[in-house]
Amino acid sequence: QTELSLRPKTLTQYIGQEKIKQEVAVYIEAAKTREEPLDHVLLYGPPGLGKTTLAGVIANEMEVNFKTTSGPAIEKPGDLVALLNELRPGDILFIDEIHRLPKNVEEILYSAMEDFYIDIVVGQDATAHPVHFPLPPFTLVGATTRAGLLSAPLRARFGIVEHMQYYTEAELSQVVLRSATVFNTRIDPLGAREIARRSRGTPRVANRLLKRVRDFAQVAHKEMIDQEIVDYALNLLQVDNQGLDETDRKMLQTMINLYNGGPVGLATIAANIGEETETVADMLEPYLMQIGFMKRTARGRMVTPAAYAHLGIDPHKNKK
Ligand code: ADE
Repeated sequence: QTELSLRPKTLTQYIGQEKIKQEVAVYIEAAKTREEPLDHVLLYGPPGLGKTTLAGVIANEMEVNFKTTSGPAIEKPGDLVALLNELRPGDILFIDEIHRLPKNVEEILYSAMEDFYIDIVVGQDATAHPVHFPLPPFTLVGATTRAGLLSAPLRARFGIVEHMQYYTEAELSQVVLRSATVFNTRIDPLGAREIARRSRGTPRVANRLLKRVRDFAQVAHKEMIDQEIVDYALNLLQVDNQGLDETDRKMLQTMINLYNGGPVGLATIAANIGEETETVADMLEPYLMQIGFMKRTARGRMVTPAAYAHLGIDPHKNKK
């Protein structure tokens, strides 16, 4: 009898990312057989694809403790020493947004990862002295939105590097059906499919939309979520049939109206729509590129004909 929670606990329960699961299952089995910690793992890819969830699954499958933190939360070398000190041999330390570690923390991570020790200077001025901390052998699992954001020396210390992919509609349907079971909510396969279609390949989005649709279904006294109520709710939420929301459409429309569809720089786009450049780079652009609505060129980003068609804009009409 396994307790069902929104986050899967085992590789078998984890939906999608088939290639990664297949590889990781081998590394886990091999490490367990040798009674060694798993090699350090780097997971990279867009937000919401289940990097933290997968890290937790790996810890569970390795039967070790799972400790989580994030790059910005570790402000100084001493913070990292404190975290690593609490680990038992084989435990997993998960660092989300690992590209945002302060430089001086990143530098002490090198010896921690490679040889399981940390040398830091304790005290100030006359009392300053180096201290050598041996560490238990541990596994670092790092997550980042783009592998290119990591420095080369840090990236080189991960023995296992996995690129998370957007989920297919069929995979997301399975995620939605599974989550509906966890929420004790009835949904039919076409309803699940419609949520999946509009979730931009991202389980976090699918689960959020499922919750909102469930609210609409409940208030409408529907005992079952079907395609009709999904359509109604998501149209109200202005999530279109490609999963684009107001922000996505505003971005494409801004590029078209102000820059004739590009080429235009990322920071310029971000400033014009009132978003952080990092938000545009990590959350908006990757999906629009994935569905072929935007492309990258040497001179900047461009809107594609497919995006014009989707927005119902004639590409020749507003050319200068
Ligand atoms: N919930 C979020 N991501 C999931 C996944 N990949 N498999 C199962 N449930 C999930």
